[in-house]
Amino acid sequence: MILKVARLGHPVLRRKARRVSPRQVGSPGVQALIRDMVETMREYDGVGIAAPQVHLALQIAAIGVDHNPRYPKARRIPLTLLINPRVRPASRRQVKDWEGCLSVEGLRGRVPRWHSVEVEAYNAQGKPVRFRASGFFARVIQHEWDHLQGKVFLDRMTDLSTLTHLTEYARYWAKG
Ligand code: NI
Repeated sequence: MILKVARLGHPVLRRKARRVSPRQVGSPGVQALIRDMVETMREYDGVGIAAPQVHLALQIAAIGVDHNPRYPKARRIPLTLLINPRVRPASRRQVKDWEGCLSVEGLRGRVPRWHSVEVEAYNAQGKPVRFRASGFFARVIQHEWDHLQGKVFLDRMTDLSTLTHLTEYARYWAKG
């Protein structure tokens, strides 16, 4: 089922999301939510989605990139579910690149993020996982993790002059 996406201004996007008991992850309710979040992310060509974006303040995020018209140059990322994630920088290097958000429709801006991160979370089966990610994958993880803390990418921008409508982004800023 495709869910309605909360847009900037809805208080649910500014709340810190609640942890999900790992034992509840396998329940029909949480499994249905995960399926619906993935379906919603794909419907709107997102590369990630967090539960607060579908009006539920729970620490669940989905990430995945296949052929995506919103991010045509992005490398493939296999579908990854992050439940109660903990994210730490794995390098001191920060990289600025473009981000958009289904809750901040029609805008892009350049956001500094850690180049690589160490992630601890529970997966879609409620099993603990730990991995390292870098590049665009690390960027999306940090973006979704922010949603679970009540933050959006605009809060992380250090130079608001790069904020750009999508049409102007495509015309002036999209690479090659
Ligand atoms: Ni977002």
